[in-house]
Amino acid sequence: MITGLEGFTPEMLESIKQVEATRAARMEHGPERMGAEAKKELLSAFHPDYRQDCFEVLQVGANKGDKVPLELARLLQGHSYLRGFHPDLSKPDYDVDVLVIGGGGAGTSAAIEACGAGAKVLVVTKLRMGDANTMMAEGGIQAADKANDSPLIHYLDAMGGGHFTNDPKLLAKLVTEGPSAVKWLEDLGVMFDKQPDGTMVTTHGGGTSRKRMHAAADYTGAEIMRVLRDEAINRGIQIVDFTAAIELLLDDQGKAAGAVLMNMETHEYLIARAKTVILATGGAGRLHYQGFPTSNHYGATADGLVLGYRAGAHLLYADALQYHPTGAAFPAQIFGSLVTEKVRSLGAMLVNRDGVAFVHPLETRDVAAAAIIRECGVRDKGVSFLEGSAVWLDTPMIDMIHGPGTLEARLPGMFRMFSKYGIDMRSVPILVYPTLHYQNGGLEIDSQGMTCVENLYVAGEAVGGIHGRNRLMGNSLLDIIVFGRSAGKNAAEKSRSVTLGRLTLDHVAKFEGLLEGAGIETDAISPQLLPTYTHKTRMIAI
Ligand code: FUM
Repeated sequence: MITGLEGFTPEMLESIKQVEATRAARMEHGPERMGAEAKKELLSAFHPDYRQDCFEVLQVGANKGDKVPLELARLLQGHSYLRGFHPDLSKPDYDVDVLVIGGGGAGTSAAIEACGAGAKVLVVTKLRMGDANTMMAEGGIQAADKANDSPLIHYLDAMGGGHFTNDPKLLAKLVTEGPSAVKWLEDLGVMFDKQPDGTMVTTHGGGTSRKRMHAAADYTGAEIMRVLRDEAINRGIQIVDFTAAIELLLDDQGKAAGAVLMNMETHEYLIARAKTVILATGGAGRLHYQGFPTSNHYGATADGLVLGYRAGAHLLYADALQYHPTGAAFPAQIFGSLVTEKVRSLGAMLVNRDGVAFVHPLETRDVAAAAIIRECGVRDKGVSFLEGSAVWLDTPMIDMIHGPGTLEARLPGMFRMFSKYGIDMRSVPILVYPTLHYQNGGLEIDSQGMTCVENLYVAGEAVGGIHGRNRLMGNSLLDIIVFGRSAGKNAAEKSRSVTLGRLTLDHVAKFEGLLEGAGIETDAISPQLLPTYTHKTRMIAI
């Protein structure tokens, strides 16, 4: 008997019968991979990045003339909290070698390495250390450390997934330092899944040609963050929670020199003077581009992009967003939450209302997301319910392929999430629809991790270029470690030769002047810091 059907509508129950009826044949012969031309057509017609009406051309700043999502343009061209206000910069509250803004995986890795290099480090975070997208990451971290794999093969996979738009130098660094990054984490205490003989369990992700996804069940990011946070605390690194950066400080030579901070509870301003600054503020999912739900942490509001842009840094691919194909669509309580790609790595197929598998489960994310949007939109083959329309992810296939108990053992987080709502995903498929997951673009950096603003470094999701216009699964947990560590080391090293000049906020006044000159009238004050929740959510975006 099938259990776990509470709350399902008659249409959903009818459709589940179709999914079950086609399962054996699909397991025998699944959907083919798409060719390059078919992918291109699918993306241009159905991927949200191609919706011209949802983007705006910037009128001021380093990327004047480039298009970015409407919601981001509003913040990039918003006013400073400090407009018309001149804080006293002469008596800093903090004076350090390296200021790290953001307490997620990248910021914490950076802080650990900067501290290890002998620098005086301060981490500020607008929520608490670990309140970040790293904590939400589920499926795994890629690293080419198996005998049948190599950094070169990893490079080719990621370059293909990114449509050959990745920065070659940054990508080469990511893949060549992958194995040592995983080893570093393991040595610090991360409990990766292992075979009885001690070798790492690895799986495929979308677009990978080798099994190189290392995981801790389906809570890999939480496990990594647990260990990084412990390490930072054990090393005695100064961490100031509930304190946001609202503006960068430059010195009188235009070099990064600290930040104006704001206590999130009292709104008191504080001044941090620093020889080098690392922006590690994470993503932007909580801006809910195009009305999409998100898998992101509550604090993901693109703060680093705004701070860096106002200080003169350049953005790369800020118009390229990642919509994870499988956000939970039902029930409403978990709408938009991540259903890890590992579910598809383990064999579950994407299936429409009639039980047809309409796309290969391990196409890259942009392709899979566009295929789902097409299926629910123009093809009208989604399963309808109150919130809109969605497709099935045929989860009972997992235990059928790998044996009973696999789903619960390999995906305990997913299993619990759906069980809470009476859905037993071992026996019934689950409904999914794309959810806003990742900011492919961000601030442009050089191979040292530095922006064009001297002494301003960036690490993690706020960086653009590593993944090109489409990141592969498991490459962001890798990038926060590789680029977080290197930003920390490089910033610490650089701080030794920095002599700070007079602190200024002249760039803020200059930016306000640019807004005025361009005739931009706006009530936006940025960075946004927290979500507003005035957006309307739309299930069928195209
Ligand atoms: O599907 C996932 O588990 C997400 C992983 C990632 O974004 O790298």
